Amino acid sequence: QALRDFVTGLPKAELHLHIEGTLEPEMIFELAQRNGVKLAYASEQALRDAYAFTDLQSFLDLYYAGASVLITERDFHDMALAYLRRAHADGARHVEIMFDPQTHTARGIDIETVFAGLASAMRMARDQWGLSSCLILSFLRHLSEADAFETLAQALPLREQYADLWIAIGLDSAERGNPPEKFTRVYAKCRELGFRLVAHAGEEGPPEYVRDALDLLHVQRIDHGVRSEEDPELMQRLIRQRTPLTVCPLSNLKLRVVDQMAQHNLARLLRQGLCVTVNSDDPAYFGGYLADNYTEAAKALSLQPQELGMLARNSIEASFLTANGKMSLM
Ligand code: HPA
Ligand code: ZN
Repeated sequence: QALRDFVTGLPKAELHLHIEGTLEPEMIFELAQRNGVKLAYASEQALRDAYAFTDLQSFLDLYYAGASVLITERDFHDMALAYLRRAHADGARHVEIMFDPQTHTARGIDIETVFAGLASAMRMARDQWGLSSCLILSFLRHLSEADAFETLAQALPLREQYADLWIAIGLDSAERGNPPEKFTRVYAKCRELGFRLVAHAGEEGPPEYVRDALDLLHVQRIDHGVRSEEDPELMQRLIRQRTPLTVCPLSNLKLRVVDQMAQHNLARLLRQGLCVTVNSDDPAYFGGYLADNYTEAAKALSLQPQELGMLARNSIEASFLTANGKMSLM
Protein backbone atom coordinates (compact mmCIF):
# COMPACT_ATOMS: atom_id res chain seq x y z
CA GLN A 1 0.00 0.00 0.00
CA ALA A 2 2.91 2.33 0.72
CA LEU A 3 4.25 1.58 -2.77
CA ARG A 4 0.87 2.22 -4.34
CA ASP A 5 0.44 5.51 -2.49
CA PHE A 6 3.91 6.59 -3.60
CA VAL A 7 3.10 5.71 -7.22
CA THR A 8 -0.26 7.46 -7.10
CA GLY A 9 1.37 10.58 -5.72
CA LEU A 10 3.87 10.85 -8.58
CA PRO A 11 2.81 13.48 -11.15
CA LYS A 12 2.73 11.55 -14.41
CA ALA A 13 1.24 11.18 -17.86
CA GLU A 14 -0.30 8.18 -19.59
CA LEU A 15 0.85 8.08 -23.21
CA HIS A 16 -0.20 4.65 -24.44
CA LEU A 17 -3.87 3.99 -23.89
CA HIS A 18 -6.51 2.72 -26.31
CA ILE A 19 -9.87 4.11 -25.26
CA GLU A 20 -11.66 1.06 -26.68
CA GLY A 21 -9.46 -1.00 -24.36
CA THR A 22 -10.97 0.68 -21.29
CA LEU A 23 -14.41 -0.88 -21.82
CA GLU A 24 -14.95 -3.01 -18.73
CA PRO A 25 -17.26 -6.07 -19.02
CA GLU A 26 -19.83 -4.26 -16.83
CA MET A 27 -19.99 -1.38 -19.30
CA ILE A 28 -20.00 -3.72 -22.31
CA PHE A 29 -23.14 -5.40 -20.92
CA GLU A 30 -24.70 -2.09 -19.89
CA LEU A 31 -24.20 -0.56 -23.35
CA ALA A 32 -25.31 -3.77 -25.09
CA GLN A 33 -28.56 -3.61 -23.18
CA ARG A 34 -29.00 0.12 -23.75
CA ASN A 35 -28.45 -0.31 -27.50
CA GLY A 36 -30.06 -3.68 -28.05
CA VAL A 37 -26.80 -5.26 -29.21
CA LYS A 38 -26.53 -9.04 -28.96
CA LEU A 39 -23.38 -10.35 -27.28
CA ALA A 40 -21.73 -13.73 -27.77
CA TYR A 41 -21.31 -14.13 -23.98
CA ALA A 42 -24.04 -14.94 -21.48
CA SER A 43 -22.64 -12.94 -18.57
CA GLU A 44 -19.96 -10.48 -17.50
CA GLN A 45 -18.15 -13.36 -15.85
CA ALA A 46 -18.28 -15.50 -19.00
CA LEU A 47 -16.78 -12.60 -20.94
CA ARG A 48 -14.08 -12.04 -18.33
CA ASP A 49 -13.28 -15.77 -18.40
CA ALA A 50 -12.57 -15.45 -22.13
CA TYR A 51 -9.73 -12.99 -21.38
CA ALA A 52 -7.05 -15.67 -21.55
CA PHE A 53 -4.86 -14.44 -24.36
CA THR A 54 -2.07 -16.28 -26.12
CA ASP A 55 -0.81 -13.44 -28.32
CA LEU A 56 -1.79 -10.05 -29.73
CA GLN A 57 -4.30 -11.40 -32.26
CA SER A 58 -6.20 -13.44 -29.66
CA PHE A 59 -6.70 -10.19 -27.75
CA LEU A 60 -7.60 -8.09 -30.80
CA ASP A 61 -10.45 -10.48 -31.69
CA LEU A 62 -12.14 -9.81 -28.31
CA TYR A 63 -11.23 -6.13 -28.28
CA TYR A 64 -12.96 -5.46 -31.62
CA ALA A 65 -15.96 -7.56 -30.57
CA GLY A 66 -16.27 -5.58 -27.32
CA ALA A 67 -16.26 -2.28 -29.20
CA SER A 68 -19.39 -3.31 -31.13
CA VAL A 69 -21.60 -2.05 -28.27
CA LEU A 70 -20.49 1.56 -28.88
CA ILE A 71 -23.23 3.24 -30.93
CA THR A 72 -24.14 6.72 -29.68
CA GLU A 73 -22.21 9.84 -28.73
CA ARG A 74 -23.24 9.18 -25.13
CA ASP A 75 -21.60 5.72 -25.26
CA PHE A 76 -18.25 7.19 -26.28
CA HIS A 77 -18.63 9.91 -23.65
CA ASP A 78 -19.43 7.43 -20.86
CA MET A 79 -16.51 5.17 -21.80
CA ALA A 80 -14.03 8.04 -21.90
CA LEU A 81 -15.27 9.67 -18.69
CA ALA A 82 -14.97 6.38 -16.78
CA TYR A 83 -11.38 6.03 -17.95
CA LEU A 84 -10.50 9.67 -17.17
CA ARG A 85 -11.94 9.36 -13.66
CA ARG A 86 -9.78 6.30 -13.11
CA ALA A 87 -6.63 7.92 -14.55
CA HIS A 88 -7.17 10.94 -12.30
CA ALA A 89 -7.50 8.65 -9.26
CA ASP A 90 -4.20 7.00 -10.26
CA GLY A 91 -2.42 10.35 -10.22
CA ALA A 92 -2.30 11.02 -13.96
CA ARG A 93 -2.08 14.75 -14.72
CA HIS A 94 -2.18 14.36 -18.47
CA VAL A 95 -3.28 11.54 -20.83
CA GLU A 96 -2.84 10.97 -24.56
CA ILE A 97 -5.68 8.78 -25.76
CA MET A 98 -5.57 6.59 -28.87
CA PHE A 99 -8.79 5.78 -30.65
CA ASP A 100 -9.51 3.58 -33.66
CA PRO A 101 -12.11 5.30 -35.89
CA GLN A 102 -12.07 2.45 -38.43
CA THR A 103 -13.43 0.04 -35.82
CA HIS A 104 -16.53 2.24 -35.66
CA THR A 105 -16.94 3.65 -39.16
CA ALA A 106 -16.80 0.07 -40.52
CA ARG A 107 -19.97 -0.60 -38.46
CA GLY A 108 -21.74 2.46 -39.82
CA ILE A 109 -20.98 4.80 -36.89
CA ASP A 110 -20.16 8.34 -38.03
CA ILE A 111 -16.70 9.59 -37.13
CA GLU A 112 -18.38 12.79 -35.84
CA THR A 113 -20.16 10.71 -33.19
CA VAL A 114 -16.85 9.25 -32.01
CA PHE A 115 -15.11 12.64 -31.80
CA ALA A 116 -18.04 14.36 -30.09
CA GLY A 117 -18.44 11.74 -27.37
CA LEU A 118 -14.75 11.50 -26.54
CA ALA A 119 -14.23 15.27 -26.65
CA SER A 120 -17.07 16.16 -24.28
CA ALA A 121 -15.68 13.77 -21.67
CA MET A 122 -12.13 15.09 -22.13
CA ARG A 123 -13.23 18.70 -21.75
CA MET A 124 -15.23 17.75 -18.66
CA ALA A 125 -12.19 16.05 -17.08
CA ARG A 126 -10.09 19.12 -17.80
CA ASP A 127 -12.65 21.43 -16.18
CA GLN A 128 -13.53 19.20 -13.21
CA TRP A 129 -10.20 17.65 -12.29
CA GLY A 130 -7.59 19.70 -14.10
CA LEU A 131 -6.69 16.56 -16.05
CA SER A 132 -5.48 17.54 -19.52
CA SER A 133 -5.76 15.16 -22.44
CA CYS A 134 -5.37 14.89 -26.17
CA LEU A 135 -6.30 12.45 -28.94
CA ILE A 136 -4.13 10.22 -31.11
CA LEU A 137 -6.16 9.07 -34.12
CA SER A 138 -4.81 5.59 -34.86
CA PHE A 139 -4.95 3.69 -38.12
CA LEU A 140 -5.55 -0.06 -38.08
CA ARG A 141 -2.52 -1.62 -39.74
CA HIS A 142 -4.31 -4.83 -40.79
CA LEU A 143 -6.36 -2.62 -43.14
CA SER A 144 -4.97 -0.99 -46.27
CA GLU A 145 -3.18 2.33 -46.59
CA ALA A 146 -6.04 3.44 -48.86
CA ASP A 147 -8.45 2.80 -45.96
CA ALA A 148 -6.22 4.90 -43.69
CA PHE A 149 -6.26 7.73 -46.25
CA GLU A 150 -10.05 7.52 -46.38
CA THR A 151 -10.27 7.71 -42.58
CA LEU A 152 -7.98 10.74 -42.57
CA ALA A 153 -10.20 12.41 -45.16
CA GLN A 154 -13.29 11.76 -43.00
CA ALA A 155 -11.59 13.21 -39.93
CA LEU A 156 -9.94 16.30 -41.41
CA PRO A 157 -13.12 18.40 -41.66
CA LEU A 158 -13.36 18.05 -37.85
CA ARG A 159 -9.81 19.17 -37.21
CA GLU A 160 -10.61 22.78 -36.42
CA GLN A 161 -13.50 21.90 -34.11
CA TYR A 162 -11.24 19.59 -32.11
CA ALA A 163 -7.95 21.45 -32.54
CA ASP A 164 -7.39 21.53 -28.75
CA LEU A 165 -7.56 17.72 -28.61
CA TRP A 166 -6.67 15.97 -31.85
CA ILE A 167 -2.97 16.55 -32.31
CA ALA A 168 -1.44 13.20 -33.23
CA ILE A 169 -1.60 10.10 -35.43
CA GLY A 170 -0.88 6.51 -34.39
CA LEU A 171 -0.72 3.00 -35.84
CA ASP A 172 -2.01 -0.11 -34.05
CA SER A 173 -3.55 -3.59 -34.48
CA ALA A 174 -1.80 -6.72 -35.82
CA GLU A 175 1.88 -5.88 -36.12
CA ARG A 176 3.49 -8.90 -37.77
CA GLY A 177 3.07 -8.82 -41.54
CA ASN A 178 1.94 -5.20 -41.46
CA PRO A 179 5.26 -3.31 -41.41
CA PRO A 180 5.60 0.47 -41.09
CA GLU A 181 6.46 0.80 -44.80
CA LYS A 182 2.85 -0.10 -45.65
CA PHE A 183 1.88 3.34 -44.26
CA THR A 184 4.74 5.51 -45.52
CA ARG A 185 2.59 7.72 -47.77
CA VAL A 186 -0.24 8.35 -45.32
CA TYR A 187 2.27 9.20 -42.57
CA ALA A 188 4.04 11.62 -44.95
CA LYS A 189 0.68 13.31 -45.53
CA CYS A 190 -0.05 13.52 -41.78
CA ARG A 191 3.41 14.95 -41.18
CA GLU A 192 2.82 17.58 -43.85
CA LEU A 193 -0.44 18.44 -42.08
CA GLY A 194 1.48 19.12 -38.87
CA PHE A 195 0.37 16.16 -36.76
CA ARG A 196 2.63 14.59 -34.18
CA LEU A 197 3.37 10.97 -35.06
CA VAL A 198 3.63 7.74 -33.07
CA ALA A 199 3.39 4.06 -34.07
CA HIS A 200 3.29 0.68 -32.37
CA ALA A 201 6.51 -1.19 -33.19
CA GLY A 202 8.63 -3.89 -31.62
CA GLU A 203 5.82 -5.37 -29.51
CA GLU A 204 5.55 -8.67 -31.41
CA GLY A 205 7.37 -7.40 -34.48
CA PRO A 206 11.15 -7.32 -34.94
CA PRO A 207 13.49 -4.41 -34.16
CA GLU A 208 13.55 -3.60 -37.90
CA TYR A 209 9.97 -2.37 -37.52
CA VAL A 210 11.16 0.09 -34.85
CA ARG A 211 13.90 1.35 -37.14
CA ASP A 212 11.47 1.66 -40.05
CA ALA A 213 8.92 3.49 -37.89
CA LEU A 214 11.66 6.04 -37.18
CA ASP A 215 13.17 6.25 -40.68
CA LEU A 216 10.11 5.77 -42.92
CA LEU A 217 7.25 7.10 -40.78
CA HIS A 218 9.31 9.70 -38.86
CA VAL A 219 7.54 8.99 -35.58
CA GLN A 220 8.53 10.89 -32.42
CA ARG A 221 7.73 8.03 -30.04
CA ILE A 222 7.56 4.26 -30.27
CA ASP A 223 4.62 2.44 -28.68
CA HIS A 224 5.96 -0.67 -26.92
CA GLY A 225 9.37 -1.02 -28.62
CA VAL A 226 10.51 -3.63 -26.11
CA ARG A 227 12.04 -5.82 -28.83
CA SER A 228 14.49 -2.98 -29.66
CA GLU A 229 16.80 -4.62 -27.14
CA GLU A 230 17.59 -7.33 -29.69
CA ASP A 231 19.47 -4.77 -31.82
CA PRO A 232 22.38 -3.06 -30.00
CA GLU A 233 22.85 -0.45 -32.71
CA LEU A 234 19.20 0.53 -32.52
CA MET A 235 19.48 0.72 -28.74
CA GLN A 236 22.37 3.17 -28.99
CA ARG A 237 20.35 5.28 -31.39
CA LEU A 238 17.28 5.35 -29.10
CA ILE A 239 19.51 6.38 -26.18
CA ARG A 240 21.33 9.06 -28.20
CA GLN A 241 18.12 10.52 -29.70
CA ARG A 242 16.17 10.08 -26.47
CA THR A 243 13.33 8.50 -28.44
CA PRO A 244 10.61 7.64 -25.90
CA LEU A 245 9.24 4.10 -25.64
CA THR A 246 5.73 3.79 -24.22
CA VAL A 247 6.05 0.46 -22.44
CA CYS A 248 3.03 -1.44 -21.10
CA PRO A 249 4.12 -4.07 -18.55
CA LEU A 250 0.78 -5.77 -17.82
CA SER A 251 -0.07 -5.84 -21.53
CA ASN A 252 3.25 -7.53 -22.35
CA LEU A 253 2.57 -10.10 -19.64
CA LYS A 254 -1.04 -10.82 -20.69
CA LEU A 255 -0.18 -11.03 -24.42
CA ARG A 256 2.78 -13.28 -23.64
CA VAL A 257 5.42 -10.90 -24.96
CA VAL A 258 7.12 -11.89 -21.68
CA ASP A 259 6.42 -15.07 -19.70
CA GLN A 260 6.79 -13.46 -16.28
CA MET A 261 6.89 -9.88 -15.06
CA ALA A 262 10.29 -10.57 -13.48
CA GLN A 263 11.62 -11.16 -17.01
CA HIS A 264 10.42 -7.81 -18.36
CA ASN A 265 13.19 -5.61 -19.76
CA LEU A 266 11.68 -2.33 -18.49
CA ALA A 267 14.26 -1.92 -15.72
CA ARG A 268 17.16 -2.81 -18.02
CA LEU A 269 15.98 -0.31 -20.65
CA LEU A 270 15.64 2.39 -18.01
CA ARG A 271 19.02 1.67 -16.46
CA GLN A 272 20.67 1.83 -19.88
CA GLY A 273 19.41 5.37 -20.26
CA LEU A 274 16.40 5.02 -22.56
CA CYS A 275 13.46 7.37 -22.14
CA VAL A 276 11.06 4.59 -21.13
CA THR A 277 7.58 5.28 -19.78
CA VAL A 278 4.96 3.06 -18.11
CA ASN A 279 1.42 2.82 -19.48
CA SER A 280 -1.66 0.60 -19.36
CA ASP A 281 -2.49 0.00 -23.08
CA ASP A 282 -5.90 -1.71 -22.67
CA PRO A 283 -6.51 -1.72 -18.91
CA ALA A 284 -9.94 -3.38 -18.97
CA TYR A 285 -8.43 -6.39 -20.73
CA PHE A 286 -5.01 -6.63 -19.11
CA GLY A 287 -5.94 -6.45 -15.45
CA GLY A 288 -4.74 -3.04 -14.39
CA TYR A 289 -4.74 0.72 -14.87
CA LEU A 290 -1.80 3.11 -14.77
CA ALA A 291 -0.87 2.82 -11.08
CA ASP A 292 -1.21 -0.98 -11.25
CA ASN A 293 1.33 -1.05 -14.08
CA TYR A 294 3.85 0.99 -12.07
CA THR A 295 3.22 -1.07 -8.95
CA GLU A 296 3.40 -4.52 -10.56
CA ALA A 297 6.56 -3.61 -12.46
CA ALA A 298 8.13 -2.11 -9.32
CA LYS A 299 7.46 -5.27 -7.30
CA ALA A 300 8.70 -7.73 -9.92
CA LEU A 301 11.75 -5.70 -10.97
CA SER A 302 12.68 -4.11 -7.63
CA LEU A 303 12.36 -0.60 -9.02
CA GLN A 304 13.62 1.93 -6.51
CA PRO A 305 11.64 5.08 -5.60
CA GLN A 306 14.12 7.18 -7.55
CA GLU A 307 13.57 4.95 -10.61
CA LEU A 308 9.78 5.23 -10.30
CA GLY A 309 10.27 8.98 -10.15
CA MET A 310 12.38 8.81 -13.29
CA LEU A 311 9.66 6.84 -15.14
CA ALA A 312 7.06 9.42 -14.16
CA ARG A 313 9.35 12.27 -15.17
CA ASN A 314 10.03 10.55 -18.51
CA SER A 315 6.29 10.41 -19.14
CA ILE A 316 6.03 14.18 -18.82
CA GLU A 317 9.11 14.69 -20.99
CA ALA A 318 7.79 12.29 -23.67
CA SER A 319 4.31 13.83 -23.70
CA PHE A 320 3.04 16.19 -26.38
CA LEU A 321 2.49 18.91 -23.80
CA THR A 322 4.20 22.17 -24.67
CA ALA A 323 7.21 23.35 -22.64
CA ASN A 324 4.96 25.42 -20.39
CA GLY A 325 2.61 22.52 -19.69
CA LYS A 326 5.53 20.24 -18.90
CA MET A 327 7.09 22.73 -16.54
CA SER A 328 3.91 23.08 -14.56
CA LEU A 329 4.00 19.31 -13.93
CA MET A 330 7.70 18.75 -13.34
N1 HPA B 1 -0.93 -3.53 -29.95
C1 HPA B 1 -1.49 -3.40 -31.14
N2 HPA B 1 -2.74 -3.00 -31.32
C2 HPA B 1 -3.46 -2.71 -30.24
C3 HPA B 1 -2.93 -2.81 -28.97
C4 HPA B 1 -1.59 -3.23 -28.82
O1 HPA B 1 -1.02 -3.33 -27.72
N3 HPA B 1 -3.91 -2.44 -28.12
C5 HPA B 1 -4.99 -2.11 -28.87
N4 HPA B 1 -4.72 -2.26 -30.14
ZN1 ZN C 1 -1.20 -0.39 -27.68
